[in-house]
Amino acid sequence: MNHLLTIGSLEPETIQSIFDLSEQLNSSPEPVLKGKNVAFVFEKPSLRTKVGTEVAINHLGGDVIEISPDLIFSSSKAVPFTSRESLKDAMMNVSQWCDAVFARVYSHGTLKKLADYGTIPIVNALCNQHHPMQALADLYTIQQKFGKDEKVTITYVGDANNVAFSLTEIGLKFGHTVKFAGPSTYSFNSEQLGYFSLLAIEHGGEFIQTEDAHKATYDADVIYTDTFISMGEEHLYDEKMKHFKPYQVNEKLFSQAKSEAGFMHCLPAHRGVEVTDEVIDHQNSWVYEQAKNRMIVSKGVFATILADEHIPESKSMNGAHKIPS
Ligand code: CP
Ligand code: NVA
Repeated sequence: MNHLLTIGSLEPETIQSIFDLSEQLNSSPEPVLKGKNVAFVFEKPSLRTKVGTEVAINHLGGDVIEISPDLIFSSSKAVPFTSRESLKDAMMNVSQWCDAVFARVYSHGTLKKLADYGTIPIVNALCNQHHPMQALADLYTIQQKFGKDEKVTITYVGDANNVAFSLTEIGLKFGHTVKFAGPSTYSFNSEQLGYFSLLAIEHGGEFIQTEDAHKATYDADVIYTDTFISMGEEHLYDEKMKHFKPYQVNEKLFSQAKSEAGFMHCLPAHRGVEVTDEVIDHQNSWVYEQAKNRMIVSKGVFATILADEHIPESKSMNGAHKIPS
């Protein structure tokens, strides 16, 4: 059984083969998912992940069934006798009918529980710590722009969130230079930095973290940002926004990068907050291609997982750094 919970659990070769399969299935669709049913369980809202992935599965002949998260997670309700059934029973039932679960949740631990209690593959559609499906589409986009072999500098400006983490992992696994610029309070912690250093050493890339957005964007090939306030953090708005003013990707900051550099954002974007209209609407903005690639790469992911091909565990998980579980 193959789960896809983090980028850390994937070998670069596996990722590249997912990309190759995605390209192949997108240009010549085949009903490789015929008879397969994927359960979507979303604790948080979604446009791109939900619609893009459902369309991808449909293109390949598979079906999607959306299950209300209340039906799966009711056992976690605090009030006695309001719970419908245990998570184990819910997941064991879903496992009898469906071939995989695509889940968007708050805690990464919830995904692990789904994996532990069910008998079918779990695919992470975003959690507070990781967004692997986004990172796969982002690297695929970068390869489309620069080719598979070129090593580039990817600068992420903003909050060290789920998108930043998975992007950094995948960038480093492919030997790129990844620079992160953000306020120290919302930057990567020492455990994460240690893990990134190991990835950089193992794959020949480089990771730099700084508070200086201008320094980090200088001469970059890609400038990436995401919301400063992720889903579930709305109550932190006032506190967080005090720190992020210097990290808006505006024309001045974007002009620090190479003239042909691209702008990336996973979306949804908050125009005028983390990015200005001039940058997101710039001719070098790739945001809509990223969104299209979410659909294309989902084809390779689900075809790989549901064709029962083995996704090898990453060697880099065997070290002291336990983050990518
Ligand atoms: N980028 C992304 O995951 O978008 P959604 O939240 O709309 O799925
Ligand atoms: N960091 C954002 C990504 C949304 C796709 C969030 O978690 O809300």
